[in-house]
Amino acid sequence: MSSDEDVAAASRQTYFIGKKENIVQSRRVVKSVGVRDVLVIYHQGDFYAIDVRCYHSGGPLHQGDIEDFDGRTCIVCPWHKYKITLAEGEGLYQAVDPSVKPLKPTWCSKGIKQRVHTVTVSNEDVFLTLNDSPGPIDSDYYQTEKYRTNFFKE
Ligand code: FES
Repeated sequence: MSSDEDVAAASRQTYFIGKKENIVQSRRVVKSVGVRDVLVIYHQGDFYAIDVRCYHSGGPLHQGDIEDFDGRTCIVCPWHKYKITLAEGEGLYQAVDPSVKPLKPTWCSKGIKQRVHTVTVSNEDVFLTLNDSPGPIDSDYYQTEKYRTNFFKE
């Protein structure tokens, strides 16, 4: 790691999310951390953290199902069924090449659409470090005050 990266890492703020036991039990927690609302998920032995509002139109990802597509674990937005990989925040979709017969859909990536964050566990406590990489990432739009203010009223 370069000294610039050391400085950047040191400046990132880490937030306490909760006790590991409680998050494992509840499977999902939504927290306001710093300037973002983040969904922390425990799924099949792993923790994930992702902006809670869907990049497409602000849908409530904490109400989405978790499914594997093309071997990748995704959350499926309850509003229009967009699929987002939990580990990377990639938008996945299926496409068909009409020149190839028989027609066969294949999974493709739209790239990173949803901002994901880093979860760490220490002494049975779960912490979140916000991903402050330069954006914009599409989901950033729904982290504005307008949408954050309305979130907990739904
Ligand atoms: Fe999530 Fe449309 S708002 S798929």
